[in-house]
Amino acid sequence: MPARNHKQWSAKPDLELGEWVDSRIYSDEEIFEEELDKLWKKSWIALCHESELPEPYDFRTGIIAREPVIMVRGPDNKVRAFLNVCPHRGMTIERRPSGSFAPAQPSGNPKHMTCLFHAWQFDMKGNCVDIPRQKEGYQDRLDKSSQGLRALRCEVKYGGFVWVCLDDHTEFNVETWAAGAMDCIKDSLDAEPLELIHYHKAIIDCNYKLWHDTNSEFYHDYMHYHNRITGFNDDYFQRECSAYDNGHVNVGTFTVNYEEYDVAEDRGTLSFPNLPPDNWYMVDMFPGLNFNLRGSVVRMDLMTPLSANQVMIEFRGFGLKSDSPEDRAHRIQHHNSIWGPLGRNLHEDLIGVAGQGTTMTPKSEPRRILHGRHEGAYIHDEIGMRHFYESWGKKMDRLPSDPEQKYKAGKVMGPEMPPAKGLSTFAGKGA
Ligand code: FES
Ligand SMILES: [Fe+2]
Repeated sequence: MPARNHKQWSAKPDLELGEWVDSRIYSDEEIFEEELDKLWKKSWIALCHESELPEPYDFRTGIIAREPVIMVRGPDNKVRAFLNVCPHRGMTIERRPSGSFAPAQPSGNPKHMTCLFHAWQFDMKGNCVDIPRQKEGYQDRLDKSSQGLRALRCEVKYGGFVWVCLDDHTEFNVETWAAGAMDCIKDSLDAEPLELIHYHKAIIDCNYKLWHDTNSEFYHDYMHYHNRITGFNDDYFQRECSAYDNGHVNVGTFTVNYEEYDVAEDRGTLSFPNLPPDNWYMVDMFPGLNFNLRGSVVRMDLMTPLSANQVMIEFRGFGLKSDSPEDRAHRIQHHNSIWGPLGRNLHEDLIGVAGQGTTMTPKSEPRRILHGRHEGAYIHDEIGMRHFYESWGKKMDRLPSDPEQKYKAGKVMGPEMPPAKGLSTFAGKGA
């Protein structure tokens, strides 16, 4: 078929409803605002890891749906989360990304969170414990006990991740929210304490869902030299993609041949507990978290949507807390050879989504984005995206293929297809 004129270009694809989405779901500012309320404020988000606040009085800050959050470890060792907002006049209480409240603050006492503006102080349970010149200004009209911080639901779960939910009334705890999607990696994550070994962040001019999508589809592995040369074998093409309630998806494992990559080494001896050597699972948690257990290291991506066309992605890497210095150095090398700045994977994905972001800016002409590959739920099937957008449509009450229409059950996932016959015979390893 020749190149298309505008009418042909704008026509609906020859696929079934549900096998594509309208690009406005990635670029429309009104839809973006609605997503913050209907998705991000209702979901459990793993904002950090307990190893980032290891001691009593340590804290870590983060953001969910524009709301600033602070997570603190109390003297009882319990991690709690609060809005990082002073009840007095709305100042951010703590502006550092992490630190400790054990020492005295510039205008407050040790072991207290102190707002820099007028020095109201709070303990690690969020109680307001001091209001300067309280009697003089408020007489008996304002009681400290009514001026505590806004407490948020918080759970430490699945290998020590600190999960926070802005919705007090959510029907879910973290486990029921995950709906089984984390089960494939939970025994590896929970076997012994983990520790943060890598952190960096990227701010990319694209919609956050494009990062979700690239994590959930593997058809783009042709872009990744490392993945092709270490992984394109029959077992790879048999990795299964499985869908779970609430929009989550995971991807089954296979054995990666790391030694095929020039500067890589076998990861078998350092593979995580309860994981066969050099195996690799992925879990995509709705709406913007990804867990990637690749042999000896875990990567966790946390997306923070900044606007319809901008996302901050924080990349964390984890090893075992019990690592010897030598093992730790190997894990960091394993992490960086794929996911570091000079690695052969992560920045390639970033180039992919940044390219999509340039074609889907607010008010750019709507176009259709195809999610219609069916390969028996094996690795190059796009069930991960179709399942995500089924949940998205239901929670947003919009049809992803035409977001001006209301959601209709059965119109998002596309038709059920018979399993693909045979496996891909791609033989271009290293091509
Ligand atoms: S705004 Fe925090 S003490 Fe005034
Ligand atoms: Fe990728």
